[in-house]
This record gives sequence, structure tokens and C-alpha cells, in this order.
Amino acid sequence: MTSADRRTRTTSATGAVSGAPVGVGDDDLPRVVLVTGASSGIGRATALRLARPGGVLALAARGEEGLAAVAAQCRELGARVSTHALDVGDDAAVEACVADVVRREGRLDAAVTSAAVVAYGDFTEVPAEVFDRVLRTDVLGTANVARHALRRFREQGDGTLLIMGSVLGQISAPWMSAYTTSKWALRGLARALVIENRPHRDVHVRVVSPGGVETPVYRRAATYLGRHGKPPFPVYAPETVADRVVRVLAKPASARRDTRAGWANPVMVAGFTLLPGVYDALVRPGLSVFGLDFRRVADTTGHVFTPSERAEPRGEDAPVRRRTRAAR
Ligand SMILES: NC(=O)c1ccc[n+]([C@@H]2O[C@H](COP(=O)([O-])OP(=O)(O)OC[C@H]3O[C@@H](n4cnc5c(N)ncnc54)[C@H](OP(=O)(O)O)[C@@H]3O)[C@@H](O)[C@H]2O)c1
Repeated sequence: MTSADRRTRTTSATGAVSGAPVGVGDDDLPRVVLVTGASSGIGRATALRLARPGGVLALAARGEEGLAAVAAQCRELGARVSTHALDVGDDAAVEACVADVVRREGRLDAAVTSAAVVAYGDFTEVPAEVFDRVLRTDVLGTANVARHALRRFREQGDGTLLIMGSVLGQISAPWMSAYTTSKWALRGLARALVIENRPHRDVHVRVVSPGGVETPVYRRAATYLGRHGKPPFPVYAPETVADRVVRVLAKPASARRDTRAGWANPVMVAGFTLLPGVYDALVRPGLSVFGLDFRRVADTTGHVFTPSERAEPRGEDAPVRRRTRAAR
């Protein structure tokens, strides 16, 4: 299969969409990549975009079954794949994973941190252990990957750390306090890492910040609202965000520090920053209508503490929900 062939998208019966985005050749892509949160949503789509003959993928998440399914699809596309069933909040496990990849391959070219969990609910009603676990996974989990990946990158002289942010790292939303806190923290962490790594010319730290993406994260979230969340309009396919990730990985030196994936992000950020009173008045009813499912559900910890065993490409409502395929 040539580079040009690979740019033609193929969708397998299992829903695996392969191929780097138009204009990105296989040779532009990092060879050895660690992807966390690789069994679902954006992490899964990113792994599939990077899967190609000669590519080496280390896929991490908690659930072995979900990882195995994505690994099989990546192998079908020609990649060499290892799976790492771990909790990113466990620093020693992340360290062992990076060490294992380096022992096998001699290097690590890039790490993409896509593992995350979400909890919905009024701040006072979300149990402390749920709030803490969201921060442990989303903030400390990312920091753990960053720590061990960056140590390796500096040792070998190059490498790209791509942190999955969110528009919620630049605006605030009610009923998502733990997740919002996490994404604001990650933006601060990422900027600190960019500055610290300035002396290392070929070590890059970049953020990709999606808006609403159609993934299982909403249905897997803990909720204390009596309702599940859903991605707000405009909703993107995980593959669209994966394309953004792949483009940044292909040319990290010229990529922005923070690449948005969603045309509405700047609109929301402008409202939040320039018209805070209007924003605060509108975001509550807005989220209630556009960001929450109307069906009633019982309180649940969702998958905050436990993995989902299935590999899940998208949200459960995928067939009925409007999907905006092209990021603008
Ligand atoms: N979907 C959106 O609308 C949206 C918008 C903006 C930003 N993002 C960001 O995009 C990234 C991916 O989200 P997604 O929507 O693709 O979510 P997703 O479909 O729910 O996937 C989350 C992945 O993280 C893994 N994971 C969860 N907790 C983990 C832990 N403690 N250790 C290791 N792996 C763990 C999950 O597998 P296991 O359960 O098996 O561990 C799964 O593979 C996240 O950083 C999220 O914040 C998403």
C-alpha cells in the first residue's frame, strides 16, 4: 500500500476508518506512538488514523477487551501494536508502559493523552471520591504520561507530547465542575511544559481542544443530575478530531500551541471572556437544552471507576444525531 493509497479513507465492517488526512504522508507521521484512552472515541480514531505498515502503536486504557478490539483493527491496517491495560492515574504503571515501549522499539516518537472520564452534577452533590477520581484520571493521568514521555523525548532529543484539551479548558460549564477544573488545569500544565521545553528544540508539547464530539464519554460519565450529558452542537465525528491530532503530530514545530477542533469554540470563548454576565445567564438554560439528554436516569458512577469492556467508536445516539464531518 502506498502513501497515496493510504490517504483514501476506508471504512471496514467494524467501523474502523483508516488513513492519514489528505496532505499528510505516512513519512510525515511519527513512527512509535503511545495513545492513552485508545479503546474508545477520539483515542481509538487517532490510533486507527496512525495505523499503517511500519507504524508502531502502544495502546493504553483500563479495559483489556476494548484495547484488544482496537489493536486487532490497527494490526489489520499493518501496524505493529502492543496493548497496555493500565490506569493512567497510576504513575508507576505509566512509567512501566513507556519503559516497555522503549525497550522494544528503542524510542518513543509521540504520546497522545486521550484518557478521560466525566462526572455530571451540581458540585455539592457529586461525591468527593467521584470528583477526585475525575481529577486523578484527567489531570494526574495526563501529567503521568507527560512526565515519562518527556523524560524519554529529552533523552533521545526529540518527540511530541499531544495533550487532549477541550473548549472547557477555556470556558466554564455548570454541572461539569470536575471535568472543567481538569481541562483548565491541563491548559496551565501544557503551557508550563511548552515553556520548560523551549531549550529542547525538537521536543514539542501541543494541545488539541475539541468542542462537542460524538463519543461514548457522555453515556459513560457519572451523573447526579438524573440525566446523561450529550455533546452540544456543533457535534463532530471523532475521526475529525483525530485528523487534527494527526496533522499536529506530522508538523509539531509549526503547529499552534493549542489547536481547536470545532468552529464554535472561539464564539463560546469570546462570549465567556467579553460578556461574562450574558454568558453566565445563558449557559445554564443553554446546557440544559443542548448539553443534556432529556431521558431520566438514576444516579450512577458510570465508568469513572471501572473500564468499559467494549471498544466503542461513537456515542450510542450516533445514528440519530446530526454530525458535522468537516472541522472548520
Ligand atoms: N467527546 C467530546 O465531546 C470531547 C470534547 C472535548 C474534549 N474531549 C476529550 O477527548 C479525550 C477523549 O474523550 P472521548 O470522548 O474519546 O472519551 P471516551 O470515548 O469515553 O474514551 C475515553 C478513553 O479513556 C479510557 N480511560 C478512562 N479512564 C482511564 C484511566 N483511568 N486510565 C486509562 N484509560 C482510561 C477509556 O477506556 P477504559 O474505560 O477501558 O479505561 C477510553 O479508552 C478526552 O481527553 C476528553 O476530555 C472529548
